[in-house]
Amino acid sequence: MSATLATVSYIGATILFILSLGGLSNPESSRRGNLYGMIGMTIAVLATVFGPNVTAGGYAWIIGAMVVGASIGLYAARIVKMTQMPELVALMHSLVGIAAVLVGFANYIDPAAAGIFKGAEKTIHELEIYIGILIGAVTFSGSVIAFGKLSAKISGKPMLLPGRHWINLIGLLLVIGSGWSFINTHAVSEGMLPLIVMTVIALAFGIHMVMAIGGADMPVVISMLNSYSGWAAAATGFMLNNDLLIVTGALVGSSGAILSYIMCRAMNRHFIAVIAGGFGTGGGTPAVASGGAQPAGEVAPILAAATAELLREAKNVIIVPGYGMAVAQAQHSVYEITRFLRDKGVNVRFGIHPVAGRMPGHMNVLLAEAKVPYDIVFEMDELNEDFPDTDVAMVIGANDIVNPAAQDDPTSPIAGMPVLEVWKAKTSIMMKRSMASGYAGVDNPLFYKENNRMLFGDAKKMLDEVLVALKA
Ligand code: TAP
Repeated sequence: MSATLATVSYIGATILFILSLGGLSNPESSRRGNLYGMIGMTIAVLATVFGPNVTAGGYAWIIGAMVVGASIGLYAARIVKMTQMPELVALMHSLVGIAAVLVGFANYIDPAAAGIFKGAEKTIHELEIYIGILIGAVTFSGSVIAFGKLSAKISGKPMLLPGRHWINLIGLLLVIGSGWSFINTHAVSEGMLPLIVMTVIALAFGIHMVMAIGGADMPVVISMLNSYSGWAAAATGFMLNNDLLIVTGALVGSSGAILSYIMCRAMNRHFIAVIAGGFGTGGGTPAVASGGAQPAGEVAPILAAATAELLREAKNVIIVPGYGMAVAQAQHSVYEITRFLRDKGVNVRFGIHPVAGRMPGHMNVLLAEAKVPYDIVFEMDELNEDFPDTDVAMVIGANDIVNPAAQDDPTSPIAGMPVLEVWKAKTSIMMKRSMASGYAGVDNPLFYKENNRMLFGDAKKMLDEVLVALKA
């Protein structure tokens, strides 16, 4: 393939990636967005492999590596459960990070590059290598720890070392110092030491940064590491002189940064506070009040038959799904109930919190899979004001995202996080297995509200029972 054709292919792939991002921003166009991304990536890989920079001798290596990589990818994609997706994503980010580190070292010791760059060009080239390895190493080790935390191999509790901000500051100064001596060396053998020192510090910083972050902030961290992996790819693009990698990396980097910002807003957290760490536990612990007002009163349980009765008499119903719906794989049962009620003339809508579940868009994907019509699925802001006019708010396996303590208790760790105000409905029904807390590990005063009922049990099992009772 000629260099011109490769450039044209790269431009085509870039356009497809931008269209892909546009498509992924809406559930209705997301399939098309995915398709654009797949076509773009195929063109990008073909144009690179058959482009002017690969010689015939390299094909065997490239094909071998692609077969191994594709097999691992296919296997992982087939066995991973939807709820484990963030773990898989974290692992993928770590691969982008380690690739940037390896490309950086390979680029530095490449004998073909020796002596090509002089003066300012040499400094710029070495800076690209240094920054690329720095971002790659932080992304790699941070993502491995994020994977460990998300898969519960490492505790979700924040690890807060004494003087941790000083440790980070000393690390930063050492990285700047090593960078200075790196770009002032004249031989590869001399530059290796500062480069290795910086890599070790960057790896340690990645571990330290994510270890200090509490379970409740992990979603932001994943999206932040996503952004880092984009910048690491862009840095690799600079090192390899590959425009497509620069553009794609910048797209991933900036969209990840925007997503981190949106998630911080949805959780009422400041980005700096997230990085500084120390919020939330691993979750799933028994409900214990987290300071502030102790929730009072008893909970009122309800059975499936009585739930069906309330739904049958309702005119307006809002369903709020959360992580438990994903665990129970209850989306198809939810759809059956929705269809039944809509056929009977009940106005059923869904309220989706931006961080419901364990990854952005988690609930939308599940509801789309169950064929719930898009036009009854609303963002939190779109229907939060409608709860006072709602007869039944049915919360399916959600907890933190409907916690009134976020509004009422300034001492709560989730104080200020916007939540779905289900308690304002005439009756709210919480469907979950026990009194356990959610991901943030904080108690939920909603359980004890007078108009709240607890439907204890696995979400799918209970919804199936409700459906049977509705049809009876
Ligand atoms: P959570 O607050 O985690 O609550 C989920 C609830 O589902 C739990 O309290 C659990 O109670 C219940 N549950 C679990 N399995 C169930 C089953 N089989 N049947 C019925 N209920 C079940 O979830 P949420 O309300 O969706 O809030 C999301 C939380 O996760 C937020 O704190 C958010 O910050 C965090 N987070 C979000 C993301 C993204 S990006 N969405 C990523 C990581 C973390 P029982 O054990 O009593 O059943």
